[in-house]
Amino acid sequence: MADQVQPAADAAALERLGEFALRYVKPGHTIGLGTGRAAAAFIRALIASGIEVRGVPTSRQSEQMAREGGIEIVGLDAVDRIDVTIDGADEVDPRLNLIKGRGGALVREKIVAVASRRQIILVGFEKLVRRLGEHSILPVEVVPFAAPLCMRLLKRAGLRPAMRYNADGTETVSDNGNLIIDCNIDSTFNARRVNRELLEMPGVVDHGLFLGIAHTVLVAGADGKIRVMNRPR
Ligand code: A5P
Repeated sequence: MADQVQPAADAAALERLGEFALRYVKPGHTIGLGTGRAAAAFIRALIASGIEVRGVPTSRQSEQMAREGGIEIVGLDAVDRIDVTIDGADEVDPRLNLIKGRGGALVREKIVAVASRRQIILVGFEKLVRRLGEHSILPVEVVPFAAPLCMRLLKRAGLRPAMRYNADGTETVSDNGNLIIDCNIDSTFNARRVNRELLEMPGVVDHGLFLGIAHTVLVAGADGKIRVMNRPR
């Protein structure tokens, strides 16, 4: 939780999560492939398993990894539905609402999640929060032309926006050719209201709040055990 300094789940714990998630995959499935460290652990496990599936990737990075591992890649035009999507998250609240997007793939991640019958999220215990906002960052993807206006509107909405930059000082550009603005929030923010307000701003493509989308969260605990959380009905 935010007021305690928590170590993060280590790489080995993420690999175990990736392998655990294979139990939700069946031969012939179409799988949404998330982005980030936890999603990459799952893609590695999937490749190693040899289970025959098709993948719908949420980023170029995940696409390349899956292709190199021999997974057939398809787009949304080629599938009626995605059976299950496996992804990571930056924050998970007790109702399985999420904040995502530190990896900059939030737009495609939300599209693929909503096109899926089931979204399964893999996280270390340090991502669990009592209220969304405890880890302070809410990413928003904006059309470059609209960025100056979006900055003003986000400031006016009290969201303390900052453009995201790469280590070399250039602006971070998403796979969709857009810019990412990181809003500085805290746990007093009203997720439902902000969800609505952001989508009403011209130039905002989407944002990292995933409310009521995830079905299951697999949590790697500090004790090495994996906990399965299902969304309360
Ligand atoms: C990518 O845009 C993000 O939504 C990631 O899924 C999220 O940041 C979690 O990433 P890690 O698994 O690397 O922590």
